[in-house]
Parts: sequence; C-alpha cells; structure tokens
Amino acid sequence: MSILITGGAGYIGSHTCLELLNADYDVVVVDNLCNSHEISLHRVESLTGKRPAFYPVDIRNKDALRKVFTEHSIEAVIHFAGLKAVGESTQIPLAYFDNNVSGTVKLLEVMEEFDVRHLVFSSSATVYGDPHEVPIKEDFPVGQVTNPYGRSKFMVEEILQDTATSDQRWNFSILRYFNPVGAHESGMIGEDPSGIPNNLMPYIAQVAVGKLEQLNVFGNDYPTHDGSGVRDYIHVVDLALGHLAALKTHWIDHGVHIYNLGTGKGSSVLDMLHAFEKACDKQLPYQIQPRRPGDIAQCYADPAYAEERLGWKATRTVEDMTRDTWRWQSENPNGFNE
Ligand code: NAD
Ligand code: WQD
Repeated sequence: MSILITGGAGYIGSHTCLELLNADYDVVVVDNLCNSHEISLHRVESLTGKRPAFYPVDIRNKDALRKVFTEHSIEAVIHFAGLKAVGESTQIPLAYFDNNVSGTVKLLEVMEEFDVRHLVFSSSATVYGDPHEVPIKEDFPVGQVTNPYGRSKFMVEEILQDTATSDQRWNFSILRYFNPVGAHESGMIGEDPSGIPNNLMPYIAQVAVGKLEQLNVFGNDYPTHDGSGVRDYIHVVDLALGHLAALKTHWIDHGVHIYNLGTGKGSSVLDMLHAFEKACDKQLPYQIQPRRPGDIAQCYADPAYAEERLGWKATRTVEDMTRDTWRWQSENPNGFNE
C-alpha cells in the first residue's frame, strides 16, 4: 500500500516524502512542477536510499490521476499541490480557485472512484484572518480571509466538511500550518522560491547570501514587543512529522479533524533577523518600511490539540530554523538550479 503525495516535489512536500520514506512508507508523488524541480526528489532519494515513484502530472487531469491510482494501491493521500502566493492570488484569482479548489474536487472525485477515503490537507492559519486574540485555537472563527489564496483554503475546508457529512467513509485531517521555515539539516533540500521571495525567511536568507541588498521590515508600529509583526515560525521538518502523526490517526478514526500545526511561540520580524545574524555570523542590513497591506500584528497557535490527539509537538527552535535555512541557502545559493 502506498501514500500518494500531491505536490511532493515542493518545499513541504519534499520534506514530508523524506520522513515518510524514512518511516518505511511507499511513496508516490504527483507534481506538475509548476513551482518545483524534480531534483528535490533525487535529493530525497540520495538521503533515504529509496526512490519515490514520480508522475509529472497535474491534479486537474483526472485521466492522468486515474492512471496513478490504477498503477499503485493507494491507501491515503497527503494533498500539498496548489498555488500559494497571496499577492499573486489577488491578480489571478481564477487560477487560484481552479488550481486549489477545482484541483481538490477532481482529486476527491478520483479518490472516490477508487474508494480511497483518507486525505490529509494542507490548510493555513490564514483561514483565521485577523484573530480576536492569541494564541489561536482551532475553534476560533474562520472565513474572514482577505485574499483569494486564503479563501481557496477556506473553501476547500468547507468542501471537505460537506463531503464527510455526505458519506461517513471519508476521513480528513485538515492541518492549519502557521509559518513554515527552515530546511532539512543535511542542507540538501529546502525552500526554493522563484523570483524575489514574498516570505520573510527566504528573503532574509537571500540578503545573507548577498542576492538581495537589505531586508525591508514591514512596519515597526504594531502593538508587539518591538513593534514588528509577530508570527509562529515552525521548522519544516517538525511540520513534515506532523503529517505522519496525522496519517496514523486515519487507521483508527473517522470524520474531519482540524489541527493547528505551530509551536505556540511568537517571534517578531526583528527577532528572526537577529537570530539569522547569529546563524550566518554577520550583520544584515535592514530598513523599516510602512506596513504591508493585509498584514496583521500577531498570529501564533495554541498547538495543544495536536499534542493531545496526535501526540505531536514541534521541538525545533528558532535557532534550528535559522541555522538550517542558512546551511541550505549558503550551500545552494541558486536553490535547485544547480
Ligand atoms: P510549494 O509551491 O513548494 O509546493 C506545492 C507543490 O505543488 C509544487 O511542487 C507545485 O509544483 C505543485 N503543484 C501546484 N499546483 C499543482 C497542480 N495543479 N497539480 C500538481 N502539482 C501542483 O509550496 P509549499 O510551501 O510546499 O506548500 C505546500 C502546501 O502547503 C500548499 O497547498 C500551500 O498552500 C500550503 N501552505 C503553505 C504554507 C507556506 O508558508 N509554505 C503555509 C500554509 C499552507
Ligand atoms: C511574516 C512577517 C511581514 C517579508 C504568509 C501567508 C500565509 C502563509 C504563510 C500560506 C510579517 C514580515 C515579510 C519581508 C517583512 N502561507 N515581512 N519583510 O504574511 O505571516 O504569512 O505565509 O498559507 O497564508 O499570508 O508570512 O513570511 O510573508 O511574513 O517584514 O520582506 O514578516 O510583514 O510580519 P505571513 P511572511
């Protein structure tokens, strides 16, 4: 029996493939490579000594998906495939709804045809919008999202709920990630954004390696300990292990379960910058800029439910996150473009 990983060549997907292979799962990857390189899977193979089956397939292509389900006995799906750039989603919302929402519906239809009823879904803390308080618990209101990307995640969550209500054979884990950062400690796989990074950690890493001039700190007048925005950064390897923990519950559980995957600790932009300076042992230039539209002051998880029900807890520190990002960035300054 195999686990199908959609989007498995991407950032979080490749780290999850690696952990699944190390835990002796058979892994099948489907990825159209629109935001990744097949090299990430070659590196996973050299780290684990095991080759995941790979199909360069778009999840919206049902015939191609059917072929995958015919050729492998798929037990469960971990569904990462999708577009994820918040700013871009406001420019081309239909592409986001097509990829993230229609793509998921097509995947579910093919799963139903093959009677595969287990799916772990990559959702996001963005579904909480601007929370009324922190830390954020899973039962906080959702749906007040401010961009099409976030709305696509919220819509898929609703689709999964309705699907599970219609037929009790379905089992869904909805994982709301906080801010995934870091890289595998080998330095061989990591985040490889195309163009100028939108997210904080890859931006700082590219300043550190000399590809970008300085960090722009978006706002220093938030009601936080130093005025810059606070987020819950979680090491990508902890996040990957959260998927394995969620998957295990599928063999004993039914219905829809929602988990926050975060550390429960908030760090500011300046905290992350200074932690990175320690990791790379140099001072990094930065400039305070106006707030970025749509940003919130602070966002961090209450991860107690995941610990209680999954027996999972993030253990890696901000120091681990910055050290591993620096190793990945300095050893692969051009990412997977060798
Ligand atoms: P990523 O872009 O590195 O990985 C997504 C992968 O999906 C890529 O390899 C891409 O080529 C593939 N893909 C996209 N559309 C596809 C399609 N139609 N068919 C087949 N493959 C397709 O992104 P990531 O950071 O690894 O994110 C993985 C998932 O987690 C995404 O669904 C994302 O929305 C979600 N998420 C990410 C973050 C984050 O900050 N990285 C936070 C919360 C949620
Ligand atoms: C973090 C902090 C910025 C860049 C986004 C998505 C969310 C999720 C994770 C997918 C904020 C500040 C950033 C920079 C800065 N993705 N910043 N200078 O906005 O918390 O979340 O990624 O689901 O949906 O919205 O992450 O890394 O962009 O920003 O000062 O160059 O860093 O203002 O306070 P964010 P981020």
